[in-house]
Formats: sequence, structure tokens, C-alpha cells
Amino acid sequence: MSPAVNLGSTGAATPPQSPRRSAAWLGDGGKNGFIARHHLRQSGLSGRQFDGRPVIGIANSWSELTPCNAHLRDLANDVRRGIQQAGGLALEFPFVSLGEPFMRPSTMLYRNLAAMELEELIRANPLDAVVVLTGCDKTTPAGLMAMASVDLPAILLTGGPMLNGRFRGRSVGSGTDIWRMTESLRAGEVTQAEFTEFESSLNRSAGHCMTMGTASTMACLAEALGMQLPGTAALPAVDSRRRVLAEDTGARSVQLAEEGLRPSHILTRAAFENAIKVNAAIGGSTNAILHLLAIAGRAGVDVTLDDIDVLGRSVPLLVDLMPSGRFLMEEFAYAGGVPALLSRLGDVLARDALTVTGRPIGDTIEVGRVDDADVIRPIEDPVQAAGSGTAVLRGNLAPDGAVIKISAADPRLLSHEGPALVFDSLEDYLAVIDDDLDVTADTVLVVRNLGPRGYPGMPEVGNLPLPKKLLAQGVRDLVRISDARMSGTAYGACVLHVSPEAAVGGPLALVHTGDRIRLDADARRLDLLVRDDELATRRAEWTPPPAPAGSGWMRLYVDHVQQADRGADFDFLVGVRGDAPAKAAF
Ligand code: FES
Repeated sequence: MSPAVNLGSTGAATPPQSPRRSAAWLGDGGKNGFIARHHLRQSGLSGRQFDGRPVIGIANSWSELTPCNAHLRDLANDVRRGIQQAGGLALEFPFVSLGEPFMRPSTMLYRNLAAMELEELIRANPLDAVVVLTGCDKTTPAGLMAMASVDLPAILLTGGPMLNGRFRGRSVGSGTDIWRMTESLRAGEVTQAEFTEFESSLNRSAGHCMTMGTASTMACLAEALGMQLPGTAALPAVDSRRRVLAEDTGARSVQLAEEGLRPSHILTRAAFENAIKVNAAIGGSTNAILHLLAIAGRAGVDVTLDDIDVLGRSVPLLVDLMPSGRFLMEEFAYAGGVPALLSRLGDVLARDALTVTGRPIGDTIEVGRVDDADVIRPIEDPVQAAGSGTAVLRGNLAPDGAVIKISAADPRLLSHEGPALVFDSLEDYLAVIDDDLDVTADTVLVVRNLGPRGYPGMPEVGNLPLPKKLLAQGVRDLVRISDARMSGTAYGACVLHVSPEAAVGGPLALVHTGDRIRLDADARRLDLLVRDDELATRRAEWTPPPAPAGSGWMRLYVDHVQQADRGADFDFLVGVRGDAPAKAAF
């Protein structure tokens, strides 16, 4: 027998009176409150559901066009359960989802769109707090940027990494092994059939890439920043304990609404310093540099490229994960994940930085425990010594900075001088990549006009594929310089994010084939060995490339995107704008 339904029950008899933010919508006794409440009843909710209890948004980047986030629809139900248990009303809503595998020309073109949309959705709706569900690369920074700018109580929940790929008896990692296998295919070392078998062995479960690529990096940094619960970043997407974490996250969001604990209380200078140090210890993605700069800009915290170099330089690589090391996120989770790593770092970190738990990160440092010292190494016996993470280079070729991931490069190339081979576009290079190019293992490959404005959107192509001629000779790394990004799963002696980019007249635009370029990663230098007067002559003759065609979003992007050293955020989106809607309803 089904439970009795009292059709006469309407829940609360009078509009709730509450000081909550949501009360400005639901607590209004006139027409506006009526409209808000009766449309909630349209969803089958009784008045008891909005009788003054906190309204918690579940912002979901679920999409079948973002396979890494496809399980977030189910995970949202676990969050909802936690919110309801804690006495809140959960209202789920979608925001722009950014899927690395499909979106062209680059998800980076749309990160600011996702952040802008989420910020406005939170501000415009009757929410007292929000849980933001993310996973694939750009969804996490977009979520954090929005959370920082709107500054409503908020908590992040990343969806977790995939299980390890398994191919012919060994673990294989997202991206990292794809680049290796692709080069082996081009070099004739594996067959097309083997390549196809590999393709079907790599992604064995829901979740984001399981190497220390951008998604895993940003998940770890979100935890280091204090914006998601301890232990969330590394646990596999399909581990049932993630569903418990999701429930806990939902329950905690209700408490955040009650406490009024906001991102501005958490995203302090100390939190960013912790995140920069953790990024060095995990061998994090170079993309994290851009995203941290952008999130800090939104939070109004002064963080520069030089901070990232100086702070990161003091921390050794402790986590032995691809692409810099051997293992994958599954092993990192079983070794203890981010809390275990934090316990390794100890006093290297600012212990008093507040987290969404309401407690300082020092509490997590105290309880973190390393269960596999091969995966999370002691600080006295690191995978690589301090200074091996992402280095910030400067010099006459990159006056506003460039980055290189030292741990992912052939050490032989970290101090290198060679002749430039220059291409004005990626298309120009790819058209001749299999030709008999005038290239040696000493060549410095330069491909330009791939920056935020030049491409536009700064694609992940900076780990430029090697010329076939060199692959045939057994060469597997080469100094490559561009104003592009590269996937966090990639490796190689790739100088990235050169600023200013070529398309706005940065010195990268002035390089000629045959010029000598010197890279000295240890000295943090990148220099074009051409006399100043010659460079002045070239600059006088330089004409900017045609502005990228486009209207709509592309136009807005090109007109307002800042350079990589500012995180490639829009100039008009920097800063905290708060949660007050522009105007009250009438
Ligand atoms: Fe989504 Fe790698 S493709 S995280």
C-alpha cells in the first residue's frame, strides 16, 4: 500500500521569515515570493522544503560531451542526499561543461565563459551556498574562478580520476602513453592493430585523466587551496568512498551556509603559497600556472609568475606520477592522496590557512598518513630534487615570462644552445613534419601565433610532435618553443606560454630560422642571441598577423583576454564582485 498523500497539505502556512540570502526570494510575502515559491511547488516540493532552510545549489558540469564528467549526474545525487540529511534544500543546475577530447579549437577558449556563466548563475538565484561539481581540465579552474568572484559560501567536488589503464600487462596513463604510442606508430615501432588495442585498453572507468595531468593537478590544488574536503582529489571516480565524500560535501555545504564561511576567507595569499608548493611536490601541470594566476586574480590576491618560481623552487618532487614519474592517480590515492602529501610537506606549508572544513590545513597535515613511500617519497629522498618542477624563464625572448616543466624534460636539453627552425603557424609546421627538413637533435623548434589572442585560445599543442626525420634517428626530445600551452600529461623540453605572445608583437615574432637560441633552465633564462640593433630593425619591419576573424564569443575573447602571465583571464572579470544581484526584482 502506498503511503497516504494528503492533497490538502501545503506545508508552511505562511511565507518563511529568515535572514538567509534565499529569503530575499522565498521569504517575500508579495507577488515575487509567490512566484518563486509556487514554481518550487511545480517540482513537487511541499512548503516544508522551503520553510526557511538553507537553499544549496549543486552546480553540475555534467555532460555527455565531457566524458570525464559523465558520472557527475549520479554523484550529484549523493551530494543531494548529504544536503537533505543536513537540513538543506538542494537545487541542481548545469553550467557550461568543457570536454578536452572534443572541443575545438581549445577548451581554453571557453574557460572564461564557463567561469562567467557560473558566477552569474550563482549570483542571480536564491542560493545560500553552492557545491560545484567538476572534473575535466578546465571545469575545475572555471569553477574556482567563479566561486572566488561571487564569494558565496561554496565547496568544490571534483569527480575523481579514472582507474589505471592496463595494456599488455602494464599500467598505462592518459595522455602520457598516448604521446609515446603515437610517436612509436610514426616511427614504425608499433602496428596500427597494436595502436587500436591500446586505444581500447586505456580508459577503463568513469573519471578524469589519471596521470598528473591538468585535471588531477587542479583537483590536488583545489584541496591544497582548502576549497574541497581532504582526500577528495585522488580517490578513483568509481570508488564507493567517493560517494560518501560527495554526501559529506553536501552536508558540509549546509554548514557553510549557516557559518557564512566564504571563499574570500579561504583563498588567501597563504592558501595560494601552499598550492604553489604542492604543485611542485606533485609535478603538476604547466596549465596549473595559468589557472592559479587567474583564480588569484579573481580572489584579489597578488600572485605573480615570479612567486610561482620562487616558492615552487624550494620544494622537491615527492609524488612519483606520470608524466614526471612512474605511477598513476590510483596508486596516489592508495598511498594516502593529498593529505598524506601534506603530512610529508609539514612545516613547508602555512598550517594556519583555513579550509572549507572550517579548520586550518594544519589539521589535515597532522592526520595525513603515507601508506606507500614509493609513491609519496620522503622529503629527504625525493623523486627529483627541489627546483625540478615548473620553472619560469625570462630573457629577451620572453620578457614577461615563459614556463618549462623541468621534471618532464630530457635533462640533456635543459642547458642548450641551437639554431632556430621557425614556423608562423602550427599548420605550416604539420604540413612539412614528415619532409626531409634541415633539422638535427640540436635544432630549437619555434612555432608561434599560438597564444591567447593569436590562435585564439592558446591550444595545448606546445609539445609539438617531432619531425619524422629525427624520430627515425631515435631522437625523442627536442627543445621546442611556443606561445601555446601543452597538456599536463605531456612531456618534453617544451618552453611554453611565451609572453608577450607573437601575435601582439612579443619578441617571439622576431625570430628567424637560423638564429641561435639559448635555454638555461637552471639560470631561468631564455635568450635570442641576436644583437639589439638587428632586433630593432626587425621590429620596425614587423607587421601584426591579421586579426582572427570572428564575432560573438570569439570577438569578446580576442578583445579582452590578457596574456599568459596574467592567467589569460578577461581584463573585465578580474576581482571579487560579490553575491548581490544587480537589481532586486519588481
Ligand atoms: Fe578530461 Fe583528460 S580528457 S581530464
